[in-house]
Amino acid sequence: MTTEDKILIFDTTLRDGEQSPGVALNVEEKLEIARALDRMKVDIIEAGFPASSPGDLESVTAIAKELRGPVIAGLARAVPPDVDACWEAVRHAERPRIHVFLSTSDIHLMHQLEKDKDRVLEMARDTVARAKGYCDDVEFSPMDATRSEPEYVYRMLTEVINAGATTLNIPDTVGYAIPEEFGAFIRDIQEKVANIDKARISIHCHNDLGLAVANSLSAVQNGARQVEVCVNGIGERAGNASLEEIVMAIKTRPDFFHLSTNIDTTQIFRTSRLVTQLTGMSVQPNKAIVGANSFRHQSGIHQHGVTKMRQTYEIMDPADIGHPRGTVLVLNKNSGRHGLKARLDDLGYELTRAELDHIFGAFKDLADKKGEIDDRDLDALVSGGRREIEDMYKLEVLQIACGTDADATATVKIVAPDGSMRETTATGTGPVDAAYQAVNDIIGIPNKLLEYSVNAVTEGIDAQGEVAVRVDVDGRTFVGRAADTDIVVSSAKALINALNRAAANLPQPEGYGADVWSNP
Ligand code: KIV
Ligand code: ZN
Repeated sequence: MTTEDKILIFDTTLRDGEQSPGVALNVEEKLEIARALDRMKVDIIEAGFPASSPGDLESVTAIAKELRGPVIAGLARAVPPDVDACWEAVRHAERPRIHVFLSTSDIHLMHQLEKDKDRVLEMARDTVARAKGYCDDVEFSPMDATRSEPEYVYRMLTEVINAGATTLNIPDTVGYAIPEEFGAFIRDIQEKVANIDKARISIHCHNDLGLAVANSLSAVQNGARQVEVCVNGIGERAGNASLEEIVMAIKTRPDFFHLSTNIDTTQIFRTSRLVTQLTGMSVQPNKAIVGANSFRHQSGIHQHGVTKMRQTYEIMDPADIGHPRGTVLVLNKNSGRHGLKARLDDLGYELTRAELDHIFGAFKDLADKKGEIDDRDLDALVSGGRREIEDMYKLEVLQIACGTDADATATVKIVAPDGSMRETTATGTGPVDAAYQAVNDIIGIPNKLLEYSVNAVTEGIDAQGEVAVRVDVDGRTFVGRAADTDIVVSSAKALINALNRAAANLPQPEGYGADVWSNP
């Protein structure tokens, strides 16, 4: 394969993905996802939008400082302060990229930018040139390109290439395109933009009509060589094109695409689970590639076929995406600290001594309860263990009395940040409600529970129940997660985790994220 046959994977889980309603990741969680993306060998990680908040500036900086290998990109509106903030964060990367975007559609120019076409062209040129002054690798996106007058898009692309852009990303911002039409647009860009040979064409498709992956693949067939994606297809509104679907389509159908990516596909399943855990956004069971049912066969005819020869009803080998139905390695209560560490090393976890000590204790407790521990349990133990170490409030004791004849009663003891033990008893309509009343009484941060979900980490009645909650505190949303074989315990821990994040993050400094469009 030549480089012409290579599709670069630009992952924007930490930027567009984090724009999913209700998702809020802290710096450590973003680093954890970035490390997983690095293990999966994505070519470019869009680590965030540094001008949008101090938290984003901090996390893009942290990722740029730590990761060596992938290009680290930051997003910037076409205004000088954004470009400067972006450079401030990505300049630490071994391979930094500044990604500038500016709308080209009449509807955005008229109602959002309130500027004419010449002024917008000038903004694009000037900010790309400013970014080029900082680094060689500059990407430009004409936002809402698919609803823009094509001639204006060609003109803008020509000018930003002259100003130094090396990647031209064509966004279907509102998921409006149809595959054939989008493919033709990518072909036309190559014909109509005279200096296009100086840049790589990228695409960025949203899923409002459920066509993000189809549109992206159509663009690839027509010459796009970078695809922007999110793990699990998360992102604004209906989300972005899903990384795993694009990558596995290209891998599964080389006879059709004659293309390849650099992705280590065996990391896909774990990365998907990590993103699910950290964002609190569950994957639907029938989701392609990473859904719980993707490699399950229900009908007798299918089961018979798969048992005789897997390929009768499977076009992909589950082991190729690191799916546990491939090879399941199991630890148990006889496994020592060494065995646990070796498996965690194989899974790519780099743990401090304190983290390993904590996780080993939790591992022993879990192994006592459920016998066999597989990689999915370990993933849940590691993320839970890391959270507990950081938590300011820690659950010490939870006792529940409940049943058919009386209100549920919960007695809860929590260690507060000052080290004191706080205890209370509360009643509720059920055990989770009672535990939540008690936790709220102790921690005392007023909040509203927006969402509560529980999923089994593995199969079987002894599985850990992984609880994700979303709470509103003072108009801001915080996600909390926890896993335990007792789902009332994981429920209480998940709420405590969300309130710990609220306690660490409120109040927000003022002055960030202000609208700077009106005064570029
Ligand atoms: O959807 C979009 O247009 C974007 C751009 C910033 C690339 O996310
Ligand atoms: Zn987008």
